Amino acid sequence: MPLREQIEAIAKRQTSEFTAEDRKVFEELKHALNRGEVRAAEKSSDGQWSVNSWVKQGILLGFRMGKLTEMSGGSVLKFFDKDTYPLRPTTSEENIRIVPGGSSIRDGAYIAPGVVCMPPMYVNVGAWIGTGTMVDSHALVGSCAQIGERVHLSAAAQIGGVLEPINASPVVIEDDVVVGGNCGIYEGTVVRERAVIGAGVVLTRSTPVYDLVRETIYRASSEQPLEIPAGAVVIPGARAVSKPWGKDQGLSVQTPIIVKYRDDRTDAATVLEEWLR
Ligand SMILES: CC(C)(COP(=O)(O)OP(=O)(O)OC[C@H]1O[C@@H](n2cnc3c(N)ncnc32)[C@H](O)[C@@H]1OP(=O)(O)O)[C@@H](O)C(=O)NCCC(=O)NCCS
Repeated sequence: MPLREQIEAIAKRQTSEFTAEDRKVFEELKHALNRGEVRAAEKSSDGQWSVNSWVKQGILLGFRMGKLTEMSGGSVLKFFDKDTYPLRPTTSEENIRIVPGGSSIRDGAYIAPGVVCMPPMYVNVGAWIGTGTMVDSHALVGSCAQIGERVHLSAAAQIGGVLEPINASPVVIEDDVVVGGNCGIYEGTVVRERAVIGAGVVLTRSTPVYDLVRETIYRASSEQPLEIPAGAVVIPGARAVSKPWGKDQGLSVQTPIIVKYRDDRTDAATVLEEWLR
């Protein structure tokens, strides 16, 4: 039976009891995810991204069938500190989930050869990262996020994850995009190729983005995620609150603005040192 049908059959049972056979199916899914053979979302020939709900269903099954266990580091990774302040010992009986830290790539994520990961950073299950991409320090690649080739995820860039609901689209960052430092890109936002997201921009399903060049406003709808056009240069902006009381208080709200489309100047401002790759 194809993997998809096996996952769907297990999910359909709605049980918290799993057999060794079920675990084998989940291991097969992780194996396929690790190798990039299956993906949480895929781009179709018309350029639209669609979710593979069964893959997300399988990832969620992994959480349901997992049991707490010790996962200590090896003998090479060592730490030194004052003997008065040793690490507090923890055991699985405490029922706390402590996810392995530092730079971690969770099992079930595809990382293409040639990707550079600067510590600390974290890549969650179901994520897909294309070749030549740089994942800088303190960057997060959330569950199922799809990151293209030659992307720069700058320091502290947060790419949100999405596992539930299973048909919800993950964040997509297409090829050659630059995501500046301290950005937050969440809730299924699609950033089309070569776009530049300036440092500090936050994009969610509720964020309208004003395009000064094309004189239009981009928003998510109930069917479509927020989409940043190819080559757009987005910077953090503000817009005045229009409701009378807010206006009287002189308030404004955060509003990302597309100030231009990528040009030579942008390329010069965002060039990555080749030797780092
Ligand atoms: C977006 C970015 C790349 C600038 O792109 P650019 O094409 O060089 O932009 P320009 O300098 O031509 O600026 C275009 C306009 O936007 C304004 N602008 C550009 N970046 C801005 C920012 N971050 N905040 C506010 N205004 C900004 C400029 O002042 C200019 O306005 P003007 O036309 O009124 O003078 C840059 O702002 C940025 O965020 N870089 C990422 C830095 C970073 O995170 N590095 C990672 C380190 S790990």
